Amino acid sequence: MGATCAGWKMLLYLLVGLARGLAALVQASPFPTSLRSDITLLFQNDLNWTEFSNHPSALLLSTPLNSTSASIACSQLSESLLSTSSPFFTYDMTHQLAYQSFLGHHPFLQRYWVSPSSSGGCQAVGAFGTVVAAGCGEKLPVLCTQSARWTITGEGTVPAEWDMFPPVDPKYGVGVQSGNLSFLGTRDQLSFRFLGIPYANAPSRFEYSTVYSGPSSINATSYRSPCTQIGGMGPGSEDCLFLNVWTPHLSTTSSSSSLKPVLTNGSFGIADQVTALRWVQEHIASFGGDPRRVTVSGQSAGAASVRALLGSPPAIGLFNGAILQSDPVGSGMSAPWTYYPIITQEYNSTTQGILALTGCNGTDNVAQQLSCLKAYDPLQLVNISVVANAPVVDGTYVTTTELPLTGTGPLARVNVMIGNMRDDGAAIISYPTQGESLLNAAVAATGGLFPLPSGSNTTLDIFNLTARMGTDTIFRCLSEATAQSGLNHSLFKSLWYYQFERSYQLNWWSPNWPACVPPVEEGFPYGDPSQEYFHCHSGDLYLAFGSLNRAALPYRDAADLPFAQAVLDRWASFIRSYNPNPSMAYLTVRGYANTYNMLVQEGTWKPVGAAVLSVPERSTGWLELEQCAALNLSLATFG
Ligand SMILES: *[C@@H]1O[C@H](CO)[C@@H](O)[C@H](O)[C@H]1NC(C)=O
Ligand SMILES: *[C@@H]1O[C@H](CO)[C@@H](O)[C@H](O)[C@H]1NC(C)=O
Ligand SMILES: *[C@@H]1O[C@H](CO)[C@@H](O)[C@H](O)[C@H]1NC(C)=O
Ligand SMILES: *[C@@H]1O[C@H](CO)[C@@H](O)[C@H](O)[C@H]1NC(C)=O
Ligand SMILES: *[C@@H]1O[C@H](CO)[C@@H](O)[C@H](O)[C@H]1NC(C)=O
Ligand SMILES: *[C@@H]1O[C@H](CO)[C@@H](O)[C@H](O)[C@H]1NC(C)=O
Ligand SMILES: *[C@@H]1O[C@H](CO)[C@@H](O)[C@H](O)[C@H]1NC(C)=O
Ligand SMILES: *[C@@H]1O[C@H](CO)[C@@H](O)[C@H](O)[C@H]1NC(C)=O
Ligand SMILES: *[C@@H]1O[C@H](CO)[C@@H](O)[C@H](O)[C@H]1NC(C)=O
Ligand SMILES: *[C@@H]1O[C@H](CO)[C@@H](O)[C@H](O)[C@H]1NC(C)=O
Ligand SMILES: *[C@@H]1O[C@H](CO)[C@@H](O)[C@H](O)[C@H]1NC(C)=O
Ligand SMILES: *[C@@H]1O[C@H](CO)[C@@H](O)[C@H](O)[C@H]1NC(C)=O
Repeated sequence: MGATCAGWKMLLYLLVGLARGLAALVQASPFPTSLRSDITLLFQNDLNWTEFSNHPSALLLSTPLNSTSASIACSQLSESLLSTSSPFFTYDMTHQLAYQSFLGHHPFLQRYWVSPSSSGGCQAVGAFGTVVAAGCGEKLPVLCTQSARWTITGEGTVPAEWDMFPPVDPKYGVGVQSGNLSFLGTRDQLSFRFLGIPYANAPSRFEYSTVYSGPSSINATSYRSPCTQIGGMGPGSEDCLFLNVWTPHLSTTSSSSSLKPVLTNGSFGIADQVTALRWVQEHIASFGGDPRRVTVSGQSAGAASVRALLGSPPAIGLFNGAILQSDPVGSGMSAPWTYYPIITQEYNSTTQGILALTGCNGTDNVAQQLSCLKAYDPLQLVNISVVANAPVVDGTYVTTTELPLTGTGPLARVNVMIGNMRDDGAAIISYPTQGESLLNAAVAATGGLFPLPSGSNTTLDIFNLTARMGTDTIFRCLSEATAQSGLNHSLFKSLWYYQFERSYQLNWWSPNWPACVPPVEEGFPYGDPSQEYFHCHSGDLYLAFGSLNRAALPYRDAADLPFAQAVLDRWASFIRSYNPNPSMAYLTVRGYANTYNMLVQEGTWKPVGAAVLSVPERSTGWLELEQCAALNLSLATFG
């Protein structure tokens, strides 16, 4: 929204000056192209994050060089040839190098330069992490140290070796060129990071966004503003159309077979999301991403966005996989994300209220009303009691009043993974107070299908029942109906359904405390997840993103780590191959023994019915069928 400054000559000179300085820095930073080599960050991530510092990452330069040139190439990255002395060097290299061979990048018996022996002799590491002497003039791919540290948001106890949001150290700068754009990024122990990339021009309120056409040198080293959030939740700006790229692999060529699948992150307007997907199609190959294997993923309101994208004509063709975690699809509070209003309905139900609350109702002239709303303070506009936060049928990005699941309307025929938490609703409802009679009426209307649990605590029993009805009504029934219609009409390339029955609630959002966390008992200071507790909305996020390390949160019992590994392995497998069952060959080569053993013992996730993600896993048919039918949310809802 800052266009008013554009005419200021002084500022303009300043901006041009900055842009030149940045362009020079981007050029000085090692591009994969200036090194004439692909760069891959190797990290043996078993999610046991308190042990990460014993498994330092390394940088692999794929182009063969002699040992002198190898050493120079590492120094161009402000690193040196990889030390062989880390505690798990042999274990880590066994798996990392086997994986390079599995991917077809190098032969299994390939040797790679590492640091010289104590007497100065040239050395290389090969299969099974074996270090051998090598002729200094040989040309081999190169392993360099990777000294940038871990970064963390820091909520729990942060280990000493880790940095909390470190200042950007220019020595870890890395450059990427894509078309006429160049990007300055950075790296940490886990990935190369290009943060806060503007994919669209700074937007104007109530207008469609356009693909970025600003200065060609982009400083992508720090997060940019999130969008303004409803209800005054947190800071934010309307100038928020930025995306972040995290990648372990940067390539010299964008046609390379080594490109990785792509998962995007965001929850903005549908049109803005389509703009972001267009940006991904144009530029992601330069960041090592494969534009033919893009998966859109969202949880809660994010899943509602994915649902809208599945039926959005301009989005069709821009992605090939979709993950919907706890989609608010159903009746009651999720109705607006299930049945989209047309513009005149939205005007009646929402716009008129907004006009009145903002004082923009002083005129009947629509143009004047619009300019009044455009001038209104953005943080106040999203903090009034009436907000427009669901898709509207605009005829361009959203053209149908619901996702057309009978095959008769626009639909992205992609691979889909969808599911819910067993007790999504337990984080959405409140503890019973005087609402009991209302609940009794609903229970009566469904003819005994929702019996009151007979525990020792009546308050908890009523809460449990309300949570069950809430989960069915707001999340589960119509997520299942979505899947059933997709199957019945063969709409999707593949379809996978899950229900989580083990969860790890966000530590900064845990409503109805302590309902969503396991009971604390002797020996289990963080709760015993094998006991009963509500598996609430958002209890899947740390697991699906493998991000307990970012929050510095502990594993609560012995089963937690292998469970977290299994969930992440399944999600990553879907994103790679559209099947949440990773291949046994893949698990073997990567050293992912826990997931391997789990698949052997507990079987694979079947394409029909639900996989119950817990310890142990099991499969089941559709859940709550009779209850859903009684709630008028049957499997046949979408035809
Ligand atoms: C890039 O942005 C970071 C963070 O705002 C800043 O510290 C750094 O100086 C910038 N670099 C250049 C070359 O502009
Ligand atoms: C993490 O690794 C350490 C060292 O191998 C081990 O002692 C610990 O039990 C592991 N943590 C979990 C949660 O398995
Ligand atoms: C290594 O390669 C560089 C560049 O090709 C060359 O100049 C140098 O002589 C080589 N050194 C050895 C020891 O082979
Ligand atoms: C950069 O490339 C885009 C699309 O490839 C093009 O539309 C734009 O005009 C180019 N900008 C400049 C400054 O060359
Ligand atoms: C949002 O509205 C609430 C209640 O009216 C108020 O307390 C709060 O300060 C407002 N927040 C912002 C950012 O204006
Ligand atoms: C998604 O992007 C936001 C905003 O840039 C960032 O704060 C957040 O950490 C990202 N989420 C994940 C899961 O990476
Ligand atoms: C909007 O409200 C007006 C006045 O009450 C009514 O005549 C009209 O039918 C409503 N339109 C829709 C689409 O609900
Ligand atoms: C605008 O809305 C406010 C709040 O509902 C109301 O008090 C006022 O009369 C309305 N003004 C006009 C001109 O309709
Ligand atoms: C019953 O459960 C509620 C909700 O967890 C709790 O607040 C209350 O203390 C419990 N009552 C008893 C007697 O344990
Ligand atoms: C809720 O009630 C059901 C049925 O009695 C029971 O199986 C379940 O364990 C209860 N949930 C919790 C979190 O106590
Ligand atoms: C379901 O719909 C039927 C018929 O329209 C109605 O009689 C019944 O009350 C509805 N049940 C619920 C729980 O809304
Ligand atoms: C789906 O197909 C099955 C088998 O043909 C049928 O029994 C069922 O009624 C269909 N369900 C829906 C929702 O159309």
